[in-house]
Amino acid sequence: MAGLSDSPGDGSNLDRNSKVVVDGVSKVYESERQRVEALSDVNFSVSDGEFVCLVGPSGCGKTTLFRTIAGLEVPTGGEIRLDGEPVTGPGTDRGMVFQEYGLFPWRTVRDNVAFGLEEQGVKEPERSRRVGEMLDLVGLGEFADAYPKELSGGMKQRVGIARALAVDPEILLADEPFGSVDAQTRDMLHEELLRIWAETGKTVLFVTHDVEEAVKLSDRVVVMAADPGRVREVVTVDIDRPRDRTDPAFGEYVDRVRSLIGE
Ligand SMILES: Nc1ncnc2c1ncn2[C@@H]1O[C@H](COP(=O)(O)OP(=O)(O)O)[C@@H](O)[C@H]1O
Ligand SMILES: [Mg+2]
Repeated sequence: MAGLSDSPGDGSNLDRNSKVVVDGVSKVYESERQRVEALSDVNFSVSDGEFVCLVGPSGCGKTTLFRTIAGLEVPTGGEIRLDGEPVTGPGTDRGMVFQEYGLFPWRTVRDNVAFGLEEQGVKEPERSRRVGEMLDLVGLGEFADAYPKELSGGMKQRVGIARALAVDPEILLADEPFGSVDAQTRDMLHEELLRIWAETGKTVLFVTHDVEEAVKLSDRVVVMAADPGRVREVVTVDIDRPRDRTDPAFGEYVDRVRSLIGE
């Protein structure tokens, strides 16, 4: 189909000067009982300020790749580079958002968002100033003193985003962050995330199994396949924002990505 620029899942997706470079990454989980090839020679790169979604069926290695880029897993082969430097562990250059929120229930919204800044030793009044700025960014200024249990799923996820961004990471990593919220809230969070992305210029790597979500959000969609986890194709979504799900071009991309996944 003309206009849907695609590239195969090999080294041709890889620009070695990019912000994030996933270079020949493999990951094997091995135990006495079994050996799982979670990732096999995964290659792609993400430019500074780009919004890239990783999409694919359950078990294709999305979370493994997310955790490897986050520095929480060590690849069996290949490497991840950020600005040319190999990843050797977690760092404040990457902020993380998870599906299950991961908020501290005993901390208020304000203190959840302050967490990374405390870890970094950021002192008052700078810390409070920064927290206030983040709460304004996600529209939760009035809930600073609430506890997570008092918030809806969508609000908790906004706290998660504020907390991830508080330390001003260059890259935002999200693993199915909106998987637990209802469809209407998810649409709102998409608008919000795209606004935050535009305002902050962060590089975003967003994992989802929801093809429409990937087409709604991404500059490019990395389509993965399972057994072993690998890149099937990288699809550039060439539609102006804001994107409308009812636009025929939107539907074409969704169909194209679904057929690549085999749905
Ligand atoms: N810690 C682990 N130990 C062993 N196998 C794992 C581990 N984490 C993931 N796997 C396996 O690796 C494969 C990819 O899993 P995962 O990265 O969670 O995929 P996805 O997020 O796309 O659903 C699956 O077969 C899964 O069972
Ligand atoms: Mg997963």
